Amino acid sequence: MVMQDSTPAISQSAHQSGILQSIPALARYAFFSIAQGADASTLQTALKRLQSAVDGKTVVAAFGVQLVNALSAQVPGLREFPVLTCPDGLVIPSTPAALMLWLRGSDMGELANRTRTLQRLLAPAFDVGVVVDAFRHGDPEAAHGRDLTGYEDGTENPEGEEAEAAAFVQNAAPGLDGSSFVAVQRWLHNFETFESFSTEERDHIMGRRLTDNEELDDAPESAHVKRTAQESFEPEAFVLRRSMPWLQHEQGRDASGLMFAAYGKSLDAFEAQMRRMAGLDDGITDGLLRFSKPLTGAYLWCPPMHDGQLDLRLLKI
Ligand code: HEM
Repeated sequence: MVMQDSTPAISQSAHQSGILQSIPALARYAFFSIAQGADASTLQTALKRLQSAVDGKTVVAAFGVQLVNALSAQVPGLREFPVLTCPDGLVIPSTPAALMLWLRGSDMGELANRTRTLQRLLAPAFDVGVVVDAFRHGDPEAAHGRDLTGYEDGTENPEGEEAEAAAFVQNAAPGLDGSSFVAVQRWLHNFETFESFSTEERDHIMGRRLTDNEELDDAPESAHVKRTAQESFEPEAFVLRRSMPWLQHEQGRDASGLMFAAYGKSLDAFEAQMRRMAGLDDGITDGLLRFSKPLTGAYLWCPPMHDGQLDLRLLKI
């Protein structure tokens, strides 16, 4: 749902508001690395420029461990994405990034121009690496978008104050309060495999019925929503998912899947879910892995806002 700006549990200026809003029609995820030879002061100068250019709404900024370390700073709770190996040997990869910008909008030309402006502003301290084009799929009026498989994605997201409680740090420390930790993974779907499954098999992989989005009690334990049922963890593992389908044409064919993004007050809830999906709790891997696999995986920290700018005091800026 779209979080209304009128009923915040914490100061509205405190978080990057794009995180709470429903997913936009179009988006780009731009991943940056630290340029070779860039020292702390070069990084700080670029981040000062970024600080006032990011409104938290049309651009959400997130920083990784590499950058925090390069600034000799500390963000309690931020760590690298762990490499996980499923019982069948499949590896859930870790691909750290120094900086990620989630550009949100509705006009691809405008997003392209904005990407260029931000890229220029971050040079020469940061090099842009991968830029992933993403979009909302399904009825634009519906409460949630859909994954490219057609299944509604986001049904069980917490809403309102529960969304804020799940996604943002509260009552910790100035500079940390209002911030959010994000786990981002680029999943590649194999549609040949997916389309070879019967309707029932597909529903049992997800644990929901495509036609009416009903949760299926008789789905197997490997069903995605049984693996990740947020109340079933101890402690409960609520996250705010803001995933979007992505598409890219590569070597004569479309490559596509889900740009999965889970925002949390810590990284623990995501990690508990991911470990169970990988079969590390009970040997049962998530049905999704039968047709989709993560190509990337990164943990980043989204700083809070202060007076309309990114609050970068934890990064000594
Ligand atoms: C190929 C990648 C993925 C696809 C296509 C996908 C799709 C879906 C769909 C269709 C649902 C059901 C509707 C909903 O509640 O949103 C769902 C639920 C959920 N997914 Fe995923 N998902 C993917 C990856 C992940 C990953 C990597 C995680 C976390 C590690 C995750 C966590 C969750 C959670 C927490 C729920 C709600 C469970 C509940 O409390 O009922 N998903 N996902």
